[in-house]
This record gives sequence, structure tokens and C-alpha cells, in this order.
Amino acid sequence: MSRDKVFATRQMPGATLERLAQHCELEIWGDFLPPDYEIIYDKMPDLTGLLCLLTDRIDPPLMDAGANLKVISNMAVGFDNIDVAAASQRGIPVGNTPGVLNETTADFAFALLMAVARRIPEGRQYVQDGKWRTWHPTVLAGQDVFGATLGIVGSGRIGAAVARRAKGFNMRLLVNSLETEEEIRQLGGEKVSLDDLLAQSDFVSMHVPLTDETHHMISERELALMKSTAILINTARGSVLDPKALFAALRDGQILAAGLDVTDPEPIALDDPLLTLDNCLIVPHIASASVATRTKMAEMAVDNVIAGLRGERLPTCANPEVYERSE
Ligand code: GLV
Repeated sequence: MSRDKVFATRQMPGATLERLAQHCELEIWGDFLPPDYEIIYDKMPDLTGLLCLLTDRIDPPLMDAGANLKVISNMAVGFDNIDVAAASQRGIPVGNTPGVLNETTADFAFALLMAVARRIPEGRQYVQDGKWRTWHPTVLAGQDVFGATLGIVGSGRIGAAVARRAKGFNMRLLVNSLETEEEIRQLGGEKVSLDDLLAQSDFVSMHVPLTDETHHMISERELALMKSTAILINTARGSVLDPKALFAALRDGQILAAGLDVTDPEPIALDDPLLTLDNCLIVPHIASASVATRTKMAEMAVDNVIAGLRGERLPTCANPEVYERSE
């Protein structure tokens, strides 16, 4: 039997890919930037496994080019870059990396929230620009976090981890989702409608996956419901916010500020109007980027590839229905 062939669309942390190479013939894309779609496409006929990132679009034509494909493994918890329904139709299991990044991402969502609330990036710029001439009662005054109201939109595992942090800051917690209602209720959280959450929150933090339903779920109408002192934090996916509506709301003072770890598109274009706003802090999709967590994510992604090549159930599978069908 010929050896399994796997293409990894990027180098990964630690010795994870060396471990994978013991199980298959492994080709690694060594560039810093992702391979073009066509490059992956051309490799597909030879592959039995694909180890990809959220920067790779994995669509039905690509899957059809890989007639021997046994597994697609995404080194991310989100998998909106993959047409998972199409993979299920073709009986291809798709792996992702849930769980391991919850706390790291929640740390970062909170860091972003605090950085924007207390204007830390502006403070750094102020010092570097030589503007720090004295202590002044009004200079760089921000918003209190302690005791404020936090609205968690789509409180899954990461939302619940953010809620735990917020409890330490004595925040009032509002959630609109049923997913972790019990956990959030135990933390003192209240379940309200999305509109009420937006109207009552001092901080709104997004924790929904990107789907047809969540695409642009925060747009002009929703931003208009928010307080003029509110701060919007997004560590989910860029397209859950409507960027044009967000720009207008930030420019016109409809909301106070935003902290975005994710944008639409990524990377954000350098001429994007959001980059002209002092009240919009944008960082390059790094919420899960701690050394330990990114290494664990790579390990999980490799475990999924190895299981898939062996025809075993993926330890963390985004489309378990592929197994139900064959059982
Ligand atoms: C990162 O955004 C992920 O989905 O893992």
C-alpha cells in the first residue's frame, strides 16, 4: 500500500510536524504567507490528508480534486474557511481544535477590553509623541471596567471564560445565548434579548461562530441601540460586524470605541477607514496566540490528521455526522 501523503499549509509550532512526518509523507509549505488556492488545488489529487489554517479556503471543487482525501484538519477552533457541509456530503471528516484556546482567547478579549477602556495604546502613543508634559486631571480619561455591565453575545465556551473574568471585576453580566446559560447564571448572569443586551451594556463582547445567521449581526440598527459610552470588542470573526456601519458609529460618536482582533477582510487593507480612527484599536487576529496554546492547537490538529489517515474517529471533529452516516 502506498504511503499516505499530507500537505501542511504552514510550519507549526514545536515539534508537531516532525511527529506527523513519522506517519506519512509530509510536505510543508514553508513560506510565511499562505499558499494560493491553486497551489493547494494542484496538490489535491496526490493527498490523503490536508492540514490547513483558517487562511486557507477549502471549498467543494478543492475537495473534489482530492479523490483520495481521508481527512481535513484545521488548526483553529473556527472552521468557517471550510465548507463543512460539503465535506460531510463527501464523507470527509474535518478536524478542529476546540477547548484548548478558550482561556487564552478569553484572556485576550479581556485585555482588549481593558486596553480600549483605559486607553493604553493611546497612552503609549502620547508618551512616544513627547506629549507627556504634566499630570492632568482630564488627560486620557477612560471608562471604568470594575462594576460596569458586560454583554456577552453568543456565550459559548469562550464567552463563559470571559464571564468568569468579568466576575472578578464585579461586572453585571448579560447574555443573549442559551448555550452556557446555566454556567453564566451561576456566575450571576442574566439572559436577555440581543436588543436589551446592546441597550444596557457598557461593554459588548462578541463570541459567536461565523455562520449565515451571524454574518453582520451587528450592523446599523444594532449599533444605534448601544450606549454612546459603550465599547465593542470582537475576538470572534470580522464579518459578524458590519464594518461600514461600525466605522460610521465610531466616527459619529454613536458608540465610544471598539477593540477588534478580527476584521473583514484579513488582513485589513491599509486604506480601510477604520484605521483612521483613534477610537478603534485593531490587532492582527492574535487572541489565541500564546506559545503554549498555539503549540497545543498544532498538536491537536496533528492528532486529527493521524487519526484520519488511520480511518479512526478524529479526536475533535467538526462534522461528527460523517460517522453517524457510516455507522
Ligand atoms: C482562531 O480564530 C480560531 O478559530 O482558532
